[in-house]
Amino acid sequence: YKRITTKTLVDMKNKGEKISMLTAYDYTMAKIVDGAGIDVILVGDSASNVMAGHETTLPITLDQMIYHAASVVRAIERSLVVVDLPFGSYQSDPKEALRSAIRIMKESGAHAVKLEGGKEIKESIKRILNAGIPVMGHLGLTPQSIYKFGTYTVRAKEEEEAQKLKDDALLLERAGCFAIVLEKVPAKLAKEVAESLTIPIIGIGAGNGVDGQVLVTHDMIGMTYEFNPRFLRRYLDLYTEMTSAFSEYSRDVKSGDFPSDKEQY
Ligand code: KIV
Ligand code: NA
Repeated sequence: YKRITTKTLVDMKNKGEKISMLTAYDYTMAKIVDGAGIDVILVGDSASNVMAGHETTLPITLDQMIYHAASVVRAIERSLVVVDLPFGSYQSDPKEALRSAIRIMKESGAHAVKLEGGKEIKESIKRILNAGIPVMGHLGLTPQSIYKFGTYTVRAKEEEEAQKLKDDALLLERAGCFAIVLEKVPAKLAKEVAESLTIPIIGIGAGNGVDGQVLVTHDMIGMTYEFNPRFLRRYLDLYTEMTSAFSEYSRDVKSGDFPSDKEQY
């Protein structure tokens, strides 16, 4: 695929090809992720944690998300760029939700937006879709509702919440969403949802029975080390590698070893 579109993702599901998705919040990282052939780049509101050091995703603003998204878009040649609508930019009413989505599309050049929730935000999703803006859903553990949940543990283990999740997933498909992220739910439930819907289900901590996987890039390359959920596979230990690079540099500066004769004018 030359350029990934929302339609490409549905085609991939139909062909049984899995979808790869990672986060990026800046130009340099996005260039590497895009160049590596990752299908979807998510400018996640996890930037609130990873980039800004907040404890939750709640504080990040729409302006800050747009800054991250515009930086990512400048790097992209192939990946589909999806941007999270941050907390507070879409929950109060559908008009505000549409205004926020329009700002993201116009000011960053991204290709789609992602919103957390099902039935509660149905009207907002419809309004955004009516304006021609593709919407990705996000169900299960939705971090913008962390103070309602009170815990980051697995969601939808009980029948009532599992049924609501299935209803919400179907509602999102019928409303016109092009894909749904399912976060931290039992693998069996996620597989059931993926098999019953025609749009791709992208999992994070949702097992292998879904249509694609997403991880936070900084976690999977091991730049962060405090976050250790079972679903996280680390492909690098960059925290350790970078720490030794920085301390080696510091030693070289202090010993006068850097710069050498060849490293000056
Ligand atoms: O913000 C984010 O990084 C996300 C993914 C974990 C799905 O929403
Ligand atoms: Na997010």
